[in-house]
Amino acid sequence: MSLRRWDKKHIISIHDFSRDEIDFVLEKSRLMEDRLASNKPMNLMDGKILANLFFEPSTRTRMSFETAMKRLGGKTIGFNVAESTSEVKGETIADTVRVVEGYADVIVLRHHVEGAARLASENIDVPMINGGDGANQHPTQTLLDLYTIQKEYGKIDDLSIAIIGDLKYGRTVHSLANALEYYGVKLTFISPRELRMPKRVVDGLRDKGIDVRETTKLRLGKADVVYATRIQRERFPDPQEYKRVKEAYVLDSNILGKLKDDAIIMHPLPRVSEIAPEIDDTRHARYFEQSNNGVPVRMALLCMVLGVDF
Ligand code: CP
Repeated sequence: MSLRRWDKKHIISIHDFSRDEIDFVLEKSRLMEDRLASNKPMNLMDGKILANLFFEPSTRTRMSFETAMKRLGGKTIGFNVAESTSEVKGETIADTVRVVEGYADVIVLRHHVEGAARLASENIDVPMINGGDGANQHPTQTLLDLYTIQKEYGKIDDLSIAIIGDLKYGRTVHSLANALEYYGVKLTFISPRELRMPKRVVDGLRDKGIDVRETTKLRLGKADVVYATRIQRERFPDPQEYKRVKEAYVLDSNILGKLKDDAIIMHPLPRVSEIAPEIDDTRHARYFEQSNNGVPVRMALLCMVLGVDF
């Protein structure tokens, strides 16, 4: 397989990738991580510019793309506060990205509207990467999640994965569940009834033969991977409903004796109260490593969409 198929292509949804392509990205990310560890400067993106257009808050996605581009020898421009842009004067997202394609070689877009990245990508020639669109998709997060799991276990197939929390509004879990259709995993979705995984996602997994269980109970004894998520306050139409469920599941020292010895705990971050700080120094915690893995994975993806082989 070659990276060439991705030259100048947009990355909007994890469904844009076949299983072989995901596996290839994970392999290339590993190479990139090795190159990073060698501490040799890279100039693969010499003269290239990445535009980070963040209409919604972000720490990890925005900064890891910025780090990725700079580590590759490129430069970045962009914004992280929508109120500082001409959107407040009524400019459409379609116009904004058409303007920015004149300034940059690749665009990363985060927006609160589902489908914004797909729509905005339709009229531009430079590659666009979806950095999260509402409750819909976050494909680069999924690739770094899969990379983290594979780094730990050397595989993704056959693992038992529990995904906990806000499965209704969480874009990271929608993308991740979509990707796991390709792997022979056992999935347990743990959420309050109001925040269940959308039926279309569950049906899609079952159609592919994936063993899926849905429950409200925090039973983690069989899980190899415990993937916790934040309850997405900003997406709740009713603040009272948020209050009711915001602390539905908390991973703290009480769960430690109930996990498999080698189970790992992941979280896309930011966390609020769903993982207590006392978990951070246990052998199970992987969420900070997971976040760090965003850099080599995004470096590999930038090379793919800009046609740079490595
Ligand atoms: N995981 C993630 O998308 O984090 P940010 O919102 O900080 O980018």
